[in-house]
Amino acid sequence: MDLDSLEQEVTSALSHASSLDKLEEVFRAYLGRKGKITFHLRELSHLSPNERVKQGKALNNLRDKIKELYEEQKLKLQKQEGEEGEWTDVTVPGKRLPTGHMHPLSRIQMQAQEIFHGMGFAVAHGPEIETEWYNFDALNMPVDHPARDMQDTFWLKGELDKQKPENKKSGRLLLRTHTSPVQVRYMEKNTPPFRIIAPGRAFRHEATDARHDANMHQLEGLMVGKDVSVTNMKAVLEEFFRLFFGEGVTARLRPSYFPFVEPGFEVDMSCVICKGRGYVLSESKHCSTCGQAGWIEMMGAGMVHQNVFTAAGYKQGDWQGFAFGMGLDRLAMMKYQIHDIRLLYSGDLSLLDQF
Ligand code: PHE
Repeated sequence: MDLDSLEQEVTSALSHASSLDKLEEVFRAYLGRKGKITFHLRELSHLSPNERVKQGKALNNLRDKIKELYEEQKLKLQKQEGEEGEWTDVTVPGKRLPTGHMHPLSRIQMQAQEIFHGMGFAVAHGPEIETEWYNFDALNMPVDHPARDMQDTFWLKGELDKQKPENKKSGRLLLRTHTSPVQVRYMEKNTPPFRIIAPGRAFRHEATDARHDANMHQLEGLMVGKDVSVTNMKAVLEEFFRLFFGEGVTARLRPSYFPFVEPGFEVDMSCVICKGRGYVLSESKHCSTCGQAGWIEMMGAGMVHQNVFTAAGYKQGDWQGFAFGMGLDRLAMMKYQIHDIRLLYSGDLSLLDQF
């Protein structure tokens, strides 16, 4: 047996193997079950003890060397094939990973915040558990004021510690019925001029239907300065509607009453479905979204009442400003064509999955 020429043969065969498959073939031809070296190793038993030791050692050395060469070549080929040979079919559809969804109300709130941010409004927050003072009294609704009945209230048991000076005026505790108390809280701590919005939850103790829920989200706005006017208010709100719903949307003010503003308005937006016509041209039928009115009631607004400024610690007549409060639920329902407000609070995945 000529081990030298056998070694040369294997070495050259291994180093010339041009693919992983071919390399595997060569390896098997020498070290596989029927391989040449395996054969010689098996034949050792027929040799004399002396010869067996000598040949055995030489064969084992050769086997180790082949294995080493094989591993080396394998690494080299793997690298080559990985870099050049392998390809990716970019047209194969990917696997979709399950992801969480942002609640439509959160999206609406973020979009609204972004738009007002662009107009220089900062974001302020207040507590959901409020005192009678901030929710009513400071907003020009003293006890026995009939306007308190406009907002059915969830009253809470217990009161704040009246001994503490900061709680002197607080009164009973309640779930805030609107976000307007944030106006007063903000004004107490800040000096005009400023513009803020205050998004958040409000609660009303009333029967629920497709348009009302005990839970709701509002977005309060407040801009105070030396000469802030109704015109400024209309411009800001119209700009908001345009950026939120698209070009061509206009606003109109209707006189209305809220104790904390004077004058007070109800702000309507031209219907985004029928474009204010009251009639949907493409479907040749009356518009059900606005009930043919061509306008949709979006919020309450007005010029901040001087009594509210005084309650917040400002001097009577020093400042003027506007305030508005809109329902984010209404906004979400309009934008996404959701017909029942209760869907927004039901945690129904078939709704949430769409966002
Ligand atoms: N707080 C009022 C409501 O919830 C809305 C409003 C806010 C009206 C600010 C006027 C000014 O109905």
